[in-house]
Amino acid sequence: MHYSELKPFGPDFLWGASTSAYQVEGGWDADGKGPSVIDVRTSYPEGTSDYKVAADHYHRFREDVAMMADMKLRAYRFCIAWTRIIPDGDGEVNPAGVKFYHDLIDELLAAGIEPIITMYHFDLPAALDEKGGWGNPATADAFVRFGEVIFAEYGSKVTYWLTINEQNMMILYGNAIGTTTLTGDEGMRDLYRQNHLMFLAQARVMARCHELLPSAKIGPAPNISLVYPNSCAPEDILAAADWNAVRNWLYLDLAVFGRYHHLAWAYLVKKGWAPEVTEEDLAILKSGKPDFVAFNYYATQTVAGPTGTAADLSNRPGDQQIVQGEVGIYRAMKNPHLPTNAFGWEIDPVGFRNEFNALWDRYHLPLLVTENGLGAFDELTPDGKVHDDYRIDYLKRHLQQLQLALTDGVEILGYCPWSAIDLVSTHQGVKKRYGFIHVNRDEFDLLDLKRTRKESSYWYERLITTGHGLED
Ligand code: BG6
Repeated sequence: MHYSELKPFGPDFLWGASTSAYQVEGGWDADGKGPSVIDVRTSYPEGTSDYKVAADHYHRFREDVAMMADMKLRAYRFCIAWTRIIPDGDGEVNPAGVKFYHDLIDELLAAGIEPIITMYHFDLPAALDEKGGWGNPATADAFVRFGEVIFAEYGSKVTYWLTINEQNMMILYGNAIGTTTLTGDEGMRDLYRQNHLMFLAQARVMARCHELLPSAKIGPAPNISLVYPNSCAPEDILAAADWNAVRNWLYLDLAVFGRYHHLAWAYLVKKGWAPEVTEEDLAILKSGKPDFVAFNYYATQTVAGPTGTAADLSNRPGDQQIVQGEVGIYRAMKNPHLPTNAFGWEIDPVGFRNEFNALWDRYHLPLLVTENGLGAFDELTPDGKVHDDYRIDYLKRHLQQLQLALTDGVEILGYCPWSAIDLVSTHQGVKKRYGFIHVNRDEFDLLDLKRTRKESSYWYERLITTGHGLED
């Protein structure tokens, strides 16, 4: 639909930016922090840094918050590292870790920035992993207890809580993210069992949050890539429905409705990967309800019917945004209408609007964008600036579509692109930069870690303060 007038962004719109603990904080063993699965990892993608120092936000958070305040951010979405609060995941609470997040939250509130807290962003305590990780039901108990600790500590200061970041990526790319070391059917059965136990943990934590903090709001934060059919061929429509169910709706249907999507369940049964689900589980799943749906959006995906052999279902290496194809399910297609970024991810601003509408139509819960952004090889030029006009263009095109979705009637709480400051990416290390704020370090040379606002941060500030910047 075209409109001659657009709905304005409301005064409470959460203009924000995001990070995660392990990608930005550093201080991996500082002040009693325990190791997470990320810290004990022994190998990283070739040519990329580990996460031990990252952007050193742990030691420089006051300077970082001051820069976010300069940008006039109204929200900052960050993750509380479970291992800073409870170093071994389920034992003693670490007072220094608790203090760190009090200090950070206080600094944000003093600057008028709303904290939005992710409880878990890929960084499981290593001690829990040794005891079976999410495959051990005791991990769900430990997660609920971790929730109780942080709700009690920060609940009077924090309204918005996110449960688990990108549970779907932890399952679909479990070997890459470290959710399992098993492969083949055994690995997939393990992953989908972990997946089920994570849903139970999430439902319990949402219920507990509502009991302890009646005015708080909590929701899941999956990575949603709307799946397009490659054509109007009925087989393509069917393949898109199947892959949408397995990649996207499975995660949100469980979080919102407390049930498995029928196509996703049929897929799990067909594959022999379906977890055991008891009556008690179903009751737990129904007991925890989200107040909103948060989601990370980078791109859409395009699929056709699963013709062909395993070898030609996809001709591109898969990662979180690049479809792979699966025998008997779907064939991965490149969308000829979309450009790609330097890392091969398709760029689809209109897909953002399509996705808002699909999510609103399905769940009718307010939506919060917790990630969206452009990974690029940014350069600090001799004039001391980062001229990331390509990022401004990316963000502008996505926000134009977000405003169209608002005008369509979708309820949108806010926009927190990835990322507030440069951090270590999950697959391509430091060189793949996302931040509004440049951090002066190389992949392996920490240099001086100096912060510099990129041109995109000035554009974003102007948009937040004046409402201008989305015009073509
Ligand atoms: C999301 C994650 O998958 O995408 C982030 O929540 C991640 O942790 C972001 O950094 C971008 O992915 P990448 O691989 O480019 O860092």
